[in-house]
Amino acid sequence: MAAESKGFFNHETIEKRTGLLILLVILVVSVGGLVEIVPLFFQKNLIEPVQGLKPYEPLRLVGRDIYIREGCYNCHSQMIRPFRSETERYGPYSVAGEFVYDRPFQWGSKRTGPDLARVGGRYSDEWHRLHLINPRDLVPESNMPPYAFLDRPIKMTDVSERMKTLKLLGHPYTDEEIAQAPEAIKDKTEMEALIAYLQGLGTQIKATN
Ligand code: HEC
Repeated sequence: MAAESKGFFNHETIEKRTGLLILLVILVVSVGGLVEIVPLFFQKNLIEPVQGLKPYEPLRLVGRDIYIREGCYNCHSQMIRPFRSETERYGPYSVAGEFVYDRPFQWGSKRTGPDLARVGGRYSDEWHRLHLINPRDLVPESNMPPYAFLDRPIKMTDVSERMKTLKLLGHPYTDEEIAQAPEAIKDKTEMEALIAYLQGLGTQIKATN
């Protein structure tokens, strides 16, 4: 029996013409992608800071830059997934609104060491200091490298400029905070900055829960 005449957009025609198939696949995937992705830019719980969230004060901001410079993210993630095994070990799971002032965010997925998303307040400053100087003094089986050399003055001279840039991106710094930033990090060591950063991690949501 002769095939009925088929329209241009039937499966057989499309599947036999690779070019057309590719074109239509791209079209479908793009529309599907946009429908999934675009709403995320407007969904409030994803783009608005959690209640009480503040941008990093200068010392913590410097500490964060040191964390990134030293590649701590190669061994530590900063995102607690919503699973019982994670929440029992690390605390409440991470929500998007906690990272609004994290540019770039430090979520990661590599966990040679534990997740640090809620490490703030878990140990004393002194614990962190000794741990950074030589992790094995506190955790004998640790394979974390020592960071004793961070006990040196902060050399960063452009902290105000960094804050100005972040302000352009929507971080609510006041002009006064920006002007006083160099004073706030004066005479501090890189280690103090890093510890200040670590001690703030994940504490904002604890305060609101
Ligand atoms: C080679 C991998 C590696 C690197 C790089 C690394 N760590 Fe670690 N870190 C670990 C491991 C493993 C542990 C668990 C053992 C321990 O406590 O020392 C750990 C533990 C920690 C802890 C204690 C966490 C807890 O909940 O007990 C902190 C805080 C920490 N690291 C901070 C840092 C910082 C800050 C840096 C960068 C300056 C860094 N780590 C770089 C592997 C690493």
